[in-house]
Amino acid sequence: MTGLPPAQRWKQDTVYQIYPRSFCDSNGDGIGDLPGITGKLDYLQALGVGVVWLSPIYASPNDDNGYDISDYQAISPEFGTMADFDAMLAGMHARGIKLMMDLVVNHCSDEHHWFQQARSSRSNPYHGYFLWAEPQADGSPPNNWEAAFQGSVWEWNEPTGEFYLHMFSRKQPDLNWENPQVRQEVYALMRFWLDKGVDGFRMDVINMISKPWKADGTLPDAPVVREGFLQPGFALTCNGPRLNEFLGEMRREVLDHYPTLTVGEAPMATVQQGRDITHPQTGSLNMLFQFEHMDLDSQPGNPLGKWALKPLDLRDLKHTMSRWQDALYGVGWNSLYLSNHDQPRPVSRFGDDERYRVESAKMLATWLHFHQGTPYVYQGEELGVPNVAFPGIGDYRDIETLNFYQVATGQRGIAPEEALRSIHTKGRDNARLPMPWSAGLHGGFTSGTPWIAAHPRAGQINAEKALADPDSVFYYYRRLIALRKRLPVMVDGRYTLLLPDHPQVYAYTRCLDDKCVLVVCNFGATEVPADLPDHTASRKAEWLIGNYPNHARVALGNLTLRPYEALVLELI
Ligand code: NOJ
Repeated sequence: MTGLPPAQRWKQDTVYQIYPRSFCDSNGDGIGDLPGITGKLDYLQALGVGVVWLSPIYASPNDDNGYDISDYQAISPEFGTMADFDAMLAGMHARGIKLMMDLVVNHCSDEHHWFQQARSSRSNPYHGYFLWAEPQADGSPPNNWEAAFQGSVWEWNEPTGEFYLHMFSRKQPDLNWENPQVRQEVYALMRFWLDKGVDGFRMDVINMISKPWKADGTLPDAPVVREGFLQPGFALTCNGPRLNEFLGEMRREVLDHYPTLTVGEAPMATVQQGRDITHPQTGSLNMLFQFEHMDLDSQPGNPLGKWALKPLDLRDLKHTMSRWQDALYGVGWNSLYLSNHDQPRPVSRFGDDERYRVESAKMLATWLHFHQGTPYVYQGEELGVPNVAFPGIGDYRDIETLNFYQVATGQRGIAPEEALRSIHTKGRDNARLPMPWSAGLHGGFTSGTPWIAAHPRAGQINAEKALADPDSVFYYYRRLIALRKRLPVMVDGRYTLLLPDHPQVYAYTRCLDDKCVLVVCNFGATEVPADLPDHTASRKAEWLIGNYPNHARVALGNLTLRPYEALVLELI
């Protein structure tokens, strides 16, 4: 026992994210489903995770794989029935695992009955559920914002003769949070799921719900940073003026009445937003997903956005992580992630997915899990699953990837090979290939034809193999997850960065009362002296966990790290 009060116990837990479409198919239709998840709960229990975040399972036309919801209270038939859901939830609870649902309420689907009604006439009672605007005098869209999936955020609606706003695809109209009825609808659907027994929510792009309205009722143009009409407008919508007010209301109306665990996805979040929103007394959510560390390997200001590649400079990562660690210490709580359904695989992105695949996957896990915050493991990360490089665009399914390819190779004149290189490095389908369960057909994911090709390396990298190998990435994650439950310093220790300027070694300490652990990670494929500062190098240290065979007592003064070595030592 760690001595934490019960309300704080969630901080010892690790969260596991399931992308249901790609997790496990029980009925051979090629799409993962709820009974498939239920059948794998023992696997999750063996890993030791305390919480599951389940990506959307609601009725959806799947323009964006479920992030476009047409009925918030229905299970998509391809995933199963409400009875399947109840059985899955009961199975999780029986194993002491909590469930966080995905709450996607910045927008819904254009096939939701709210939008179907809203778009029919300006006098329809649902019209005010969405955001409408008149064209400019020359007929062009109301402002210059570019949507996340290319094109304008404005789509023309013929029946009412006006544009509607969609920050993502045109099939994902943004909801009008200024309208109190919309907010009440959201609170009602949250209560519906909480009354069924779910334990909380991951809230999709939650810091975009308040838009930056001007006094005249229009939305401002984004600053012009490149040629052409369309400009990135996300910076303006990610910190709207009424965000804290809306979240505060949601807390009072819903969250305060249930024991919930919440994490808000917050692109472009500042540390100030992080502190405001996750403050244990005055904030509204338990954690945020901030994005700064996910943006470090793109060229800032490049019109291609995340697709404009740039190698990671480890010093940038240190700077970003340390800023969030320091800023939220004692006044908020971080989420810790390298991976989710929108990001490429960390072992390919920040490690070496060939020669040192196992070592670097374990190093990255060590590095992440010892920071302060709640670690998130995305399905397959615990196996060290790498990226994939399909040779043609035809194998890809993700709307963001497909639209990028079309625009890049079309109007932007980028060579197909170059666009594909960005897709191989950053595309979201890297994370969305079927979970490799075994070396069998389609990695054991389905007996039918999978909705997207199975991982070409599933024959070598799969759960069955990992479970049979005590040295696997899986068992290493299990040890990290178990350590967090019995080491208070891992949960509450104060973080201090060492060696801020070292280009290859990432070192930090976590200290609580008289206990200190030192974490030293080699982010490179070459041996490197750890070069620890004198005040640390002069201390004695006992080995706690690491990805190479045990060092027992380690002499810190002349420590050399092997390729992608991670070491955690207790300073004595
Ligand atoms: C963030 C989600 O994680 C992503 O998958 C989705 O495309 C957008 N929000 C829109 O819902």
